[in-house]
Amino acid sequence: MASSKVVNLLSIVLLCITIVQGRKTLNTSIEFSPSSLVNNDDGVCKSMIETQGYTCEEHKATTSDGFILSIQRLPAGRSGEKANKPPVLIHHGLFSDGVSWLLNSPNESLPFILADSGFDVWLVSGRGSKYSSHISLTPNDLGYWDWSWDELARNDLPASMQYVYDHTSQKIQYVGHSQGSLIAFVAFSQGKLLNITRSAALLSPIAHMRHITSVATKLAAELLLADDLRWLGIKFLPTSGPGSWFLNLICERLHLDRAILMSYFTGPNYCLNTSREQYYLEHEPQATSTKNLIHFSQMIRKGTIAKYDYGIFNWQHYGQLLPPDYDLSQIPNDLPLFLGIGKLDMLSDEEDVNDLLNFEFKNHDANKLVKVVLENYAHTDFTLGVKTKQDVYDPMVDFFNAQ
Ligand SMILES: *[C@@H]1O[C@H](CO)[C@@H](O)[C@H](O)[C@H]1NC(C)=O
Ligand SMILES: *[C@@H]1O[C@H](CO)[C@@H](O)[C@H](O)[C@H]1NC(C)=O
Ligand SMILES: *[C@@H]1O[C@H](CO)[C@@H](O)[C@H](O)[C@H]1NC(C)=O
Ligand SMILES: *[C@@H]1O[C@H](CO)[C@@H](O)[C@H](O)[C@H]1NC(C)=O
Repeated sequence: MASSKVVNLLSIVLLCITIVQGRKTLNTSIEFSPSSLVNNDDGVCKSMIETQGYTCEEHKATTSDGFILSIQRLPAGRSGEKANKPPVLIHHGLFSDGVSWLLNSPNESLPFILADSGFDVWLVSGRGSKYSSHISLTPNDLGYWDWSWDELARNDLPASMQYVYDHTSQKIQYVGHSQGSLIAFVAFSQGKLLNITRSAALLSPIAHMRHITSVATKLAAELLLADDLRWLGIKFLPTSGPGSWFLNLICERLHLDRAILMSYFTGPNYCLNTSREQYYLEHEPQATSTKNLIHFSQMIRKGTIAKYDYGIFNWQHYGQLLPPDYDLSQIPNDLPLFLGIGKLDMLSDEEDVNDLLNFEFKNHDANKLVKVVLENYAHTDFTLGVKTKQDVYDPMVDFFNAQ
């Protein structure tokens, strides 16, 4: 263990030198961080939605711990006809934001498709993304990054769901991708939000993470759990600074091709529009907290679905030795669920999803559980694919219409 730490440290130092020296010649997407160049105002309606001919309202919901979440509402379809169906709240995954759903043409992008199908669409950007902020903290404060998905489930999700309920007085249809599915599973399993939820569609569902096969993800998890990674800092952005060095380290170690680095984590995405790659990179990825990544690493290493593990400080946080588990079998059996599962998804691994279905959801009412299983799909196909409308979003609209 001790010697492997030394090796870790050495390779980090060597790597940093390599990166600094190689910077002039390396010009792959991962080095490029245009997110920081894009203006930081809340112009999502103006820049991304109204330009496509849709009506849009800017909203903000404040969490109980002071984060201000940016929310856009599409109250009508492109015809201008007002929504006559219930509200849908759409929640993005890790390293992402509400805008990640708007990067393809309206005919390909979920929020527009739902608005055109008559739903009242609400698009949220969680904490850590450049569209959210805090009532008193700034991104330079430790507290601004002192959270993991525990807080997203406990604070962000209730804040945005309650906000939409308060403005519509209607039960919500929820859409979550990846981390956006995990936080909903966790909240529902604790009996939260069920009285304002009509149904939920979870794409690339994340619950168990013990069967992850990606060597890149497993190495990242091991590195994140090593305690010599303080240089990584509290904020993690894959495209610049320590976050980028960290990914370079993984590339070097595993001899990965940097140009397709992301697919080593997500799986081989199959229906992305490669000619739009630069455009995607102007908006994504967004930052998350290093603590959040450590929490995911704990799930991967220990195979648990539990609160953040503070080690010797668990007593202080939870009054017990180990962090409390989340029990997803507590999700009510009659909650209508739609699961979008990709067989090539390396983050939402098929075996992990099967564990969820065979154990926690064993007694779920069969007619309340719709599964769409796609042979060719990996993680990002569910948000940015050019065929996702026919493969996933159309069946999702049918599912919502049936609730
Ligand atoms: C480096 O990458 C950026 C962003 O993709 C691009 O605009 C620029 O032209 C590239 N520079 C070179 C020298 O290839
Ligand atoms: C988008 O869909 C609408 C309605 O189905 C259709 O009329 C239009 O031609 C499509 N636009 C594109 C660019 O495919
Ligand atoms: C939903 O339940 C919570 C308590 O779990 C309660 O505070 C809230 O008022 C309820 N909301 C509605 C709309 O019934
Ligand atoms: C892919 O993106 C290009 C460039 O934006 C666009 O012209 C083309 O229509 C897109 N293809 C599909 C299938 O959406």
